[in-house]
Amino acid sequence: MFLMAIETSCDETSVAVLKDGCVLANAVSSQTKLHETYGGVVPELASREHLRNLMPVAREALEQAGVSSNEIDAVAGTRGPGLPGALLVGLRASQGIAFVLDRPFLGIHHHEAHLYSPWISGDPLSLNLDDFQENVSLIVSGGHTMLVYVSDPMEHRVLGMTVDDAAGECFDKVAKMIGLPYPGGPEIDRLAIEGNGKIHQFPRPKLHDDSHDFSFSGLKTSARYFIRDNPEVLEDGSSLRDLCAGVQAAIVDVLVKKTVRAAKRMGVRCLTASGGVTCNSGLRKALEGACIDEGFTLRLTNQNLCTDNAAMVGMVAHMRLANDCEFTSLDAEIIPNWSLEQLA
Ligand code: KG4
Ligand code: ZN
Repeated sequence: MFLMAIETSCDETSVAVLKDGCVLANAVSSQTKLHETYGGVVPELASREHLRNLMPVAREALEQAGVSSNEIDAVAGTRGPGLPGALLVGLRASQGIAFVLDRPFLGIHHHEAHLYSPWISGDPLSLNLDDFQENVSLIVSGGHTMLVYVSDPMEHRVLGMTVDDAAGECFDKVAKMIGLPYPGGPEIDRLAIEGNGKIHQFPRPKLHDDSHDFSFSGLKTSARYFIRDNPEVLEDGSSLRDLCAGVQAAIVDVLVKKTVRAAKRMGVRCLTASGGVTCNSGLRKALEGACIDEGFTLRLTNQNLCTDNAAMVGMVAHMRLANDCEFTSLDAEIIPNWSLEQLA
């Protein structure tokens, strides 16, 4: 059973080919260079770039997998949430391919794809749910930051989410203020490794709030004021590294403590994390430390699958097909603001 999956919800054009749930190819073309000039993703440019790249990336994935297009048995595409124009390119392309090949089509929720990516492992990559445990899952990227309670595969409930900026957005915007290239998350991570996070203290928004929600816009503003009042930190390498370490420490502290607290409240002993910010070395280390202290199991997404990719989309489609779920109509529309609750 060969499945082709397409992901274009933001600035990554990705096509994966799976055989019986194993990833044969996961081709990703990133647009970061294009958007770097503007310091963030420009939606119109993202859509045009997806249009330009999608067919070459699909061809690359098929070649890598050694599969011809008419061998594909089912097609999946990200239906939402995401940038409307970007989603439209990938969804219509995947529906078009399904139509031409006369194969079933599945429209996949982008967050659901992130949610199960911590369970993708091995060589070849496949979904390993044999050791699945009820868990609290942190989905943290440039567009979303949320905590989800996952009781069983395909059974989940959103506990909380950011009320303003996503954690990745906070990383990227602070990096922009400092003059670092886009995307700023990896740049701050690189500098923070050699910095001291205790020298400059930044607020930990909603840390003591009773809800499972997050907020990062105040932290971003606090960094803005700090830079305005202390411009000399940008001139000195060591101070700059301390600033990056201070901002990263604040973001990581909130993410880790709120995730651990949510797990305790839900009575679960397993944490998972996914999304682009899960690449952050400070976050990975802090989650590992917290899980050792609490005696929790931790499932971190494989570094190669944290940022947006079609393999994780294909994996959800594979799960749905294995569970005889309904196909999606070939004229189904994109859902740019699709929430996980609506899916459940
Ligand atoms: O999941 P993703 O590819 O796209 C969205 O769905 O948003 O995540 C991209 C985000 C960006 O904000 C980027 O700065 C952040 O993930 N990111 C990181 C790191 N690597 C990527 N943030 C902090 N540290 C990193 N090492
Ligand atoms: Zn994402």
